[in-house]
Amino acid sequence: MHWASFLFQPTNLSLVALLISDPASMHEWGEEFGKELRAGDLIVLTGPLGAGKTALVQGIGKALGILDITSPTFVISRVHHAAIPLVHVDAYRLLDNPMALFDDLDLDTLLDTSIVCIEWGSEVVERLSHDYLELALEYGAGESERTITATGHGQRWGQFQL
Ligand SMILES: Nc1ncnc2c1ncn2[C@@H]1O[C@H](COP(=O)(O)OP(=O)(O)O)[C@@H](O)[C@H]1O
Ligand SMILES: [Mg+2]
Repeated sequence: MHWASFLFQPTNLSLVALLISDPASMHEWGEEFGKELRAGDLIVLTGPLGAGKTALVQGIGKALGILDITSPTFVISRVHHAAIPLVHVDAYRLLDNPMALFDDLDLDTLLDTSIVCIEWGSEVVERLSHDYLELALEYGAGESERTITATGHGQRWGQFQL
């Protein structure tokens, strides 16, 4: 007789949709969400310009005691030092050359000890880790409504409850 055993994971994917009514609510949601984060967490934010990706990262930063997150014109990646450091990347100018995120920015090393949030990073995120949360922001009805569709991947996020 011989035995075979299998690791059974019910699901490695989770999906949640949220409706955000104004900028203050985006910050507040980011702050609540930020309280759940820990070193090694990888968040990718997608959606058009002005959807609120940076606003959401500002909310996450607030939960970590970081108040100086901006949307810089030339800086692609910034490390904000705190009890848990936050690495904020805006990969928009690297869309043609996404591998520079690894070759030049050493994101894979930073990820071990930091929370990493990447705007415009959906092309590269899988190369960094199989555990990541994608937050897809979209414009909603009216000027200040936004939607967030959160898709969790991997062990860390597959069953995450927002
Ligand atoms: N519900 C909302 N959530 C976030 N930002 C909003 C919302 N409604 C209006 N805005 C505005 O949209 C802009 C979002 O900018 P930003 O966060 O830099 O977007 P992105 O990083 O996606 O380009 C800000 O000017 C903000 O005031
Ligand atoms: Mg931005």
